[in-house]
Amino acid sequence: MDNEILGQLFRQLTDTDSSEKEIIQLLQKVKTILHKNSEYAGNYTFDDISLNKGVAVNCKLASDCFDDYLRTYSFMLATFRCIGNKTKRNTEKVKILYAGTGPFLTIILPSVFLFSSDQISITTLEINENSYHYSKNLISKLSKTDYFEANLHQNALTFETEHKYDIIISETMDKALTREPQIAIFSHLVKFLKSDGNLIPQNVKIDLIASSIKLEKNVDFYCYTDKRTRELNNKHRQFIKTVLEANRQFYETAKLVESESLFLTTICTSQVKTKLNELLLLTEVQLYEDFILKEDDSWLTKKYICHSFSRKTRGKDFNIYYKNNESPIITFKLKD
Ligand SMILES: C[S@@+](CC[C@H](N)C(=O)[O-])C[C@H]1O[C@@H](n2cnc3c(N)ncnc32)[C@H](O)[C@@H]1O
Repeated sequence: MDNEILGQLFRQLTDTDSSEKEIIQLLQKVKTILHKNSEYAGNYTFDDISLNKGVAVNCKLASDCFDDYLRTYSFMLATFRCIGNKTKRNTEKVKILYAGTGPFLTIILPSVFLFSSDQISITTLEINENSYHYSKNLISKLSKTDYFEANLHQNALTFETEHKYDIIISETMDKALTREPQIAIFSHLVKFLKSDGNLIPQNVKIDLIASSIKLEKNVDFYCYTDKRTRELNNKHRQFIKTVLEANRQFYETAKLVESESLFLTTICTSQVKTKLNELLLLTEVQLYEDFILKEDDSWLTKKYICHSFSRKTRGKDFNIYYKNNESPIITFKLKD
């Protein structure tokens, strides 16, 4: 019964005519069914896992990500579209690796209802024991085991395989690529991607902007499109430079060393207008083709205030680094 309802809800979700309000209502209905079938009680478990390249978030937080509705919807639809395009070209099953499923296998779930098990084969990795447990419950309760080649309770950072995948998915990130291990995970897994394969997200772009916290407007609610706040903020902001584009080329070429900072670029702040006293990092996440999360569409793309000028730093050049340690972050250092 729940199976049929979920299939119906996912079909409605992929109907691109649905309004934002309808999408949120559909996802709320989906969530109720997922809670029931995974037997997830929604209780807080203090089970963040500290890795040497970022934090794997606890089961409650991973489950709450579902309520970041535009994020959830966009990841689901982008993945569905990407698989759809591959099934048109592939004669064999589309092989998918999904790192960090959370309790609900959120991103891949519509696709196991909308494609047949002859079309896709999925391997999942989840490091958190509780999330892993609930995701396994869900697969068996929804009778979807034949879609999965393997469900592994494993750290994606140390995963090894002889297989190559058509699509590798991971949403293990926070705004400005802080805290969670997205960069480290994709840098490791990219070697298992076929030459014509796709990473989802395809690109994470981080722009450095000068602004003033006194002039900045904040959105009233996240996970609703709010172009107006973006437009208002853009009136006073000054673009400085794109400091990182984390995409396949980056993952294949950047020399990430554990616990070391990776040099990204140098920025010059001599042209920054005097009324702008802060530097912000803005995140834009391109999931696949035209599925893009822009500033404030989701928690992943909230602005991140990273520096306030002092007399010592105003007008100076900075070197920008990505810190690849247990607390990843983009950092600044005055250039000598
Ligand atoms: C932000 S949640 C996202 C959950 C789900 N994919 C979604 O989109 O709603 C990230 C998930 O990745 C898992 N994770 C983080 N680092 C991991 C790693 N190194 N190996 C396997 N799983 C990891 C976390 O335990 C968590 O369940």
